Amino acid sequence: MRATDWRILGFDEPRVPRYGPRLPMNESLSAIQADALARIDAAEDPRALEEARIASIGKKGALSLAAAAIKDIPKEEKAAYGQSVNSARAAITAAIEAKQAALQDAADQSALAGIDPTMPGRPLPTGALHPLTLIRDEAVGILRRMGFALADGPEIEDEFHCFDALNTPADHPARNEKDTFYFDSGKLLRTHTSSVQIRTMEADAPPVRIIAPGSAYRRDEIDATHLSVFNQLEGLYIDRDVSLPDLKGTLEYFLHELFGPSTGVRFRPHFFPFTEPSFEIDVKLEIKGQTPRWIEVAGCGMVDPAVFKAVNGSRGDNAYDPAVWTGFAFGMGLDRLAMIRWGIKDIRLLIENDARFLSQFA
Ligand code: PHE
Repeated sequence: MRATDWRILGFDEPRVPRYGPRLPMNESLSAIQADALARIDAAEDPRALEEARIASIGKKGALSLAAAAIKDIPKEEKAAYGQSVNSARAAITAAIEAKQAALQDAADQSALAGIDPTMPGRPLPTGALHPLTLIRDEAVGILRRMGFALADGPEIEDEFHCFDALNTPADHPARNEKDTFYFDSGKLLRTHTSSVQIRTMEADAPPVRIIAPGSAYRRDEIDATHLSVFNQLEGLYIDRDVSLPDLKGTLEYFLHELFGPSTGVRFRPHFFPFTEPSFEIDVKLEIKGQTPRWIEVAGCGMVDPAVFKAVNGSRGDNAYDPAVWTGFAFGMGLDRLAMIRWGIKDIRLLIENDARFLSQFA
């Protein structure tokens, strides 16, 4: 920069009257512009470019100082001077942007060196939820919308919670060594999720509205429809004035939600020690190309007062007074529901982890 540029660049130098010697404005502006463009052009990295920007159009850069000096320009020249400042700023800004793009381009190129971005990617196999998880979540979702809360209980149970409190006498076939997995300690693998009914009532006073999905174990011969471990969903509803229509309405609604409104639902009288009266529930689905038939999906009934008495005994109070409280219970096989929903012919597919089977649910 030449010393004679004082008029534009120097502030500490003496002011010279208008008629004094001075360089034409554009000459100093074009010097600033040329200098800036040269620095921008020479910049080899973003940092050098930024320095060039600050030195030219930064707050205290040469062009900005020159722009501020407009106040000393004779009135009739202000407009032309202002235009020259603007065009210099535009040229410098454009050069900076072009250089930025060029630097970025070069950086991208070197990052890509040796990589072929047109090569197809490696396919990632899509994971999927297991059909049992899908049907469980769906069933739980429907019942939760109806106001049922989730409850839980141990899979290693004692005879009291699995049988005695459920009004199941010592000579009942379900308690047979042949049908139940016993530990030496006398504990057992729960044969149904109904034990959660007892544990829930022991812990909480009525009213009760719970569901409990979980595993159950029986010493069944394994075949296309039996496993020694299977999955159930238990339900228990206890309040004042709960009656059979509540049970029917709740389960019909549930099964229609799960399998569609045209599904046939029938209640067949049955026997369970812990409910009276008791029923088995069958559904009939309209499946294309198949003759519809009734398939058993659940057991249910009105809670037997003997169960309330056992719970009261274990609680040491009369919280479940059978004269005040009534309720219904149900238990269904989740494996069975999944098999019906997807037409699965062999229950063993649900535990064999065959990817050819499971990937169909992805
Ligand atoms: N626990 C019964 C079973 O495993 C099902 C059931 C539950 C029946 C609740 C009635 C009430 O078969």
